[in-house]
Amino acid sequence: MIVIVQGSNRKGNLTRPFVEYAADYLNEKGEACVILDLEHLPSDILHSEMYASGVEHYFLDQAAAEMRKATRWVFAFPEYNGSFPGGLKLFIDALSVRDFKTLFGGKTAGLIGTSSGRAGNLRGLDHFSSVLNHLGTNVMPQSLPVSLIDAMIDGSGNLKDEAAKKSISAFLDRFLAFTTQQATVSA
Ligand SMILES: Cc1cc2nc3c(=O)[nH]c(=O)nc-3n(C[C@H](O)[C@H](O)[C@H](O)COP(=O)(O)O)c2cc1C
Repeated sequence: MIVIVQGSNRKGNLTRPFVEYAADYLNEKGEACVILDLEHLPSDILHSEMYASGVEHYFLDQAAAEMRKATRWVFAFPEYNGSFPGGLKLFIDALSVRDFKTLFGGKTAGLIGTSSGRAGNLRGLDHFSSVLNHLGTNVMPQSLPVSLIDAMIDGSGNLKDEAAKKSISAFLDRFLAFTTQQATVSA
């Protein structure tokens, strides 16, 4: 099972179509996926007691349970002010107080960056990669930056750009091969 985190909490965000395409592609490859969509990140996560040990939260507890079950994660997230979104960092910080060693340690992640601009969130990919590495998660070295995304979505909110679909498919093939290799090394 693979967990795919959609990392924008913006209503009607443009990152979700990329996640849907990725989930469909992985399903076609016989891989079951769970999408954790941070568009639904509840606003009551951020408060001064959020780091207290044993603090419960329905969204985070569910997310932690899904992420704990899976050894493979894909994160897709937009570029906000030259980095990854603050909402995604909040999500990671909130999860990290729930036994971060078993949750993050030894997991494998692949990263997809999206942006309206030309950079494809390259800096955000590097920044987020550093955060995951810090928590003990192995990040596949080749992340996928996707730039100029506004024109890639059709009127129904689906990914229509054939070149982007091809890049994501190739990225996911590489990710599956990488995770198989990682599993062999750690066996
Ligand atoms: C707060 C904020 C900051 C942004 N900063 C950048 C940026 O630095 N570079 C860029 O290319 N696009 C930037 N964007 C545009 C996003 O890349 C754009 O909204 C795109 O649709 C992906 O974000 P979404 O998944 O939230 O829709 C920003 C958008 C927001 C809301």
